[in-house]
Amino acid sequence: MRKTNAIAVITILAAAMFSYAQNIQLPMKKDSVKFAVIGDNGTGDKPEYQIADKLTAAHQKFPFDFVVMMGDNLYGGEAPKDFGQKFEKPYKALLDIGVKFHATLGNHDDPSRQISYEKFNMGGKHYYSFKPKDGVRFFSLDSNYMDKKQLDWLENELKASGSEWKLVYFHHPIYSSGEKHGSNLELRTTLEPLFVKYGVDVVLTGHEHFYERIKPQKGINYFIVGSSGQLREGNIGKTELTAKGFDRDNAFMLAEISGDDMFFQVISRKGETVDSGNIKRAEKIKKITTSR
Ligand SMILES: [Fe+2]
Repeated sequence: MRKTNAIAVITILAAAMFSYAQNIQLPMKKDSVKFAVIGDNGTGDKPEYQIADKLTAAHQKFPFDFVVMMGDNLYGGEAPKDFGQKFEKPYKALLDIGVKFHATLGNHDDPSRQISYEKFNMGGKHYYSFKPKDGVRFFSLDSNYMDKKQLDWLENELKASGSEWKLVYFHHPIYSSGEKHGSNLELRTTLEPLFVKYGVDVVLTGHEHFYERIKPQKGINYFIVGSSGQLREGNIGKTELTAKGFDRDNAFMLAEISGDDMFFQVISRKGETVDSGNIKRAEKIKKITTSR
């Protein structure tokens, strides 16, 4: 009898843990843009695989169409076997069902091997934009360098995108509380005026191996998602910038854009929701509310 009770308790606990991991807080509306964000993932080590498993589990409840990668897509070697071990194998279940990955280049990435790698969908370019659906556009930059040619391209693309949701992503954060790197002020000087001028809504970056959501800066919402493989535990310093930080475990983000709302949820390697909320886009004033 005692043994039966113990088994029952274990079963209930297992079920609770499973449902905890599957607890998607996003609205999952029909016709919304559903995507995931990973960064600094390409280690080929166990945490990358564990996050990939959580991402795959999340997809069963929240069927995102694509994943944006914040760079440092492959650490160390970049031979075909490395693309296998550090990308194709961990995300196999998602790749097999047609989930698309759109990469940006980090400081560890070799452009000559990555920009034409079909599964990164970069179209042979260092920087590019794509429109997953009418009204929403993503811009992937190469923040390893920022020359006039790239800036002119960005300005033209932002101008042309008109009233679409504008989400810009690149590797090096221009706002960060990381003790290792911190804010990249040179890039901020170059990029922020364009973001403000053309009404960029959301900026996604990596490089710092933790998760941080920055308090809106000049009306723009900044996220760092750089712990989907790597982790720099306890590296978020005390600054005025942090709206929410998580540097205790690996994490990834899910997001959904519907009308003037972007909902987001950040999930740890253990399946715990470490941040969630809603960015409201209304009359060019972006407000953010969070549920925790
Ligand atoms: Fe990096």
